[in-house]
Amino acid sequence: MSINEIFTDGVAVSGAHQESHSYSERARRNLWLQMSRMGAYSEQHEIPIIVRGEGTHVYDVNGKKYFDGISGLFTNALGHGRPEFAKAATESMNNMTFFPIWTYAHPTAIELAEKVASLAPGDLNRVFFTTGGAEANESAWKLARQYHRLRGDTDRYKVISRDIAYHGTTLGALTITSLECYRQPYEPLVPGAIKVPAVNFYRAETHAEDFEAYGLWSAQQIEEALLREGPETVAAVFLEPVQNAGGCFTPPPGYWQQVRAICDRYGVILVSDEVICAFGRLGTWFGGQKYDYVPDIITCAKGITAGYAPLGAMIVSDRLAEPFLEGDVSFQHGFTWAGHPLSASIALTSIGIIERENILGNVMANEEYFRQSLNALKDLPIVGDVRGTGYFWGVELVKNQETKETWEGEDAERLLRGFVSPEMFRRGLICRSDDRGDPVVQLAPPLISTREDIDFMVGTLREVFTEAVKRHL
Ligand SMILES: Cc1ncc(COP(=O)(O)O)c(C=O)c1O
Repeated sequence: MSINEIFTDGVAVSGAHQESHSYSERARRNLWLQMSRMGAYSEQHEIPIIVRGEGTHVYDVNGKKYFDGISGLFTNALGHGRPEFAKAATESMNNMTFFPIWTYAHPTAIELAEKVASLAPGDLNRVFFTTGGAEANESAWKLARQYHRLRGDTDRYKVISRDIAYHGTTLGALTITSLECYRQPYEPLVPGAIKVPAVNFYRAETHAEDFEAYGLWSAQQIEEALLREGPETVAAVFLEPVQNAGGCFTPPPGYWQQVRAICDRYGVILVSDEVICAFGRLGTWFGGQKYDYVPDIITCAKGITAGYAPLGAMIVSDRLAEPFLEGDVSFQHGFTWAGHPLSASIALTSIGIIERENILGNVMANEEYFRQSLNALKDLPIVGDVRGTGYFWGVELVKNQETKETWEGEDAERLLRGFVSPEMFRRGLICRSDDRGDPVVQLAPPLISTREDIDFMVGTLREVFTEAVKRHL
């Protein structure tokens, strides 16, 4: 039986359960899931099989409907099944299969580069395409190293990033990533990774009463790391506008301006990793427009195509591009599929929809409502902190609101993997329970989501947390 036969207007018909089981079994045999404990799946714990999407919802193989509260993986910004994308894809495929942007160029990549440059802050006008976020970060670190070398600054190779941060899993990006669970099996990594504290105000040990002073302290940690290492050895600093891993750490006022000034003072390249944050997640095109800064490089991916095709990019300032435009110099770096005409046309379609339908306006109009709705959950003793912005929120769970005691080890495992995640899913909400730092539940819904959708998400969190309090506190 095919998927189409199983569904009639999203309602499962007989045979679906059997189909679910067989998919799960086949997946267990041949499909290597990404970042997943394969051993956790068994005859009793089937792999969830998602077969179809419609707007802000997806359906599993049994016909059950879920709200896509994490937008796939921070990707599906405009919802599923929009016909504009199918049309753009068909036109692109009918026009040309593929042609590389190595030596040659094609109009769709040119048009997208122009469009992205026009939306990016400051003089970030050069767009280097990749196929995803890790590749964009790899590209940025390599570009930073070569840029310095071209200017005679030959000792600069190190990279600074924040604790708990995730920047991708290829060896270079993994080196910039700080999460031990991802790094440890693959060590030794690329030499030169320097870590500074994450901007986690909820757990601040200094300036705990003053967000702004804490931000200045956090920025100073970058300067101190630079001075410790020798600024002449550091190529770049990588930071997300709002750090995802650890649960939506927002920057204090003045933080980005301080970091910008420090990077300028020591000639270090400032990379804004916006793989999640760009293209509307924060209610702006880029983080710089939300927090008033201009980095030297923006890396992006995910939302650039609203999830309809794979694409990433590194957006580079004119200043950094300059030494590469002379003589026989070249950035010896590329990926076959980078700037694929299909992905580029999908990205143009997505940007067009965001503009036409004022999607950024929708996010901004609901940001405060989202914040207030989540903040109301603090009447539950398990909710410690609510943080985020735009359509990008994290709720940190604690054992004790007063002492902020966290869930650790087996307790955290039992709470998050054993209860919260499966309960959300059972109640029709796909969100993310993240235990890479202190336990957080994350919401990052499609940017087209309404207040009704926010009510559903927050209402489901309330039901599940209420139950968690009864069972686990
Ligand atoms: C901030 C950030 N940077 C980089 C990446 C890596 O992107 P990709 O999975 O496309 O390689 C991610 C992925 O989630 C991310 O969140």
